[in-house]
Amino acid sequence: MTTSSEACLSALLADRFRHLVRVPDALEGEDTLRRMAGRGSCRRFRDDPVAPELIETLCAVALSGPTKSDLQQRDIVVVTEPGLKAALLGICADQPWTQVEVPVLIVFCGNHARQRRLHDLAGHTFANDHLDAFFNAAVDAGIVLAGFVAAAEAVGLGACPISALRNRPDEVDRLLGLTQHVFPVAGLALGYPAVPAPVSQRLPLAETLRWNGWGTDDPGPLERYDAERRCHQPYATERPAPQPNPGRARPYGWIEDKARQYARPERAGFGAYIRGKGFSLD
Ligand SMILES: Cc1cc2nc3c(=O)[nH]c(=O)nc-3n(C[C@H](O)[C@H](O)[C@H](O)COP(=O)(O)O)c2cc1C
Repeated sequence: MTTSSEACLSALLADRFRHLVRVPDALEGEDTLRRMAGRGSCRRFRDDPVAPELIETLCAVALSGPTKSDLQQRDIVVVTEPGLKAALLGICADQPWTQVEVPVLIVFCGNHARQRRLHDLAGHTFANDHLDAFFNAAVDAGIVLAGFVAAAEAVGLGACPISALRNRPDEVDRLLGLTQHVFPVAGLALGYPAVPAPVSQRLPLAETLRWNGWGTDDPGPLERYDAERRCHQPYATERPAPQPNPGRARPYGWIEDKARQYARPERAGFGAYIRGKGFSLD
């Protein structure tokens, strides 16, 4: 795969997607797009500290992204205190990389509590106590997470989101003292990369980019992706086959890995946690 920072945009995208992507000539050398196309999650960090003013800058830049109806239903909790950070990362102990060196841990939260406060201040009842309230806050938090990662990578930092924090949302909640209607969406490990981030293959655009409607779900692109990825980005380890239904015998690739991942219950209690935070999910 191309790792050179000199690579043009179409080369970086061809590496990522394993097929040609149409790129206007004028954008071949565009730095922001090249950086975004060649990025990867970072799971090994140097122990250099990240300056608080840099973290604050990146948070402010990330919070400058779009937000549903200008509601701004997301907040960021930066964790630098070692004891608190260790307790939170302890929740992710099944992911060994989180137990090594994570200079800064950030938790991106959906925050619908502020909206409720606005209703108290204005004296209007809140008439939208249904799934949308949770959904809007979760999406807003995801947008800020994505903006933060892009901003951090633009200044040479490495980052990796950690949804494993939600394995025990009650514990995250207690450790951070989250108020009602505030919930963790994802953690983010942040620091200076110890090694260059690998580029991870994406599904071909034939599968994920649709024009003017949904069209059909042809198995061809999925199978071709699976085969390409087995060749160029094979899995170092395999998840055990689920029992009692081990599935079809197929070569271990992305399809098998993702199907095995979700053949086991994961975070089945998250809905109960969210309801406990005061949301109606109807
Ligand atoms: C919301 C979210 C949660 C994630 N949670 C984890 C996690 O718990 N552990 C982990 O190692 N990576 C996690 N990741 C990173 C993904 O595994 C990674 O983005 C994906 O494999 C693609 O690789 P890339 O980012 O290097 O392109 C998460 C990413 C997102 C967007």
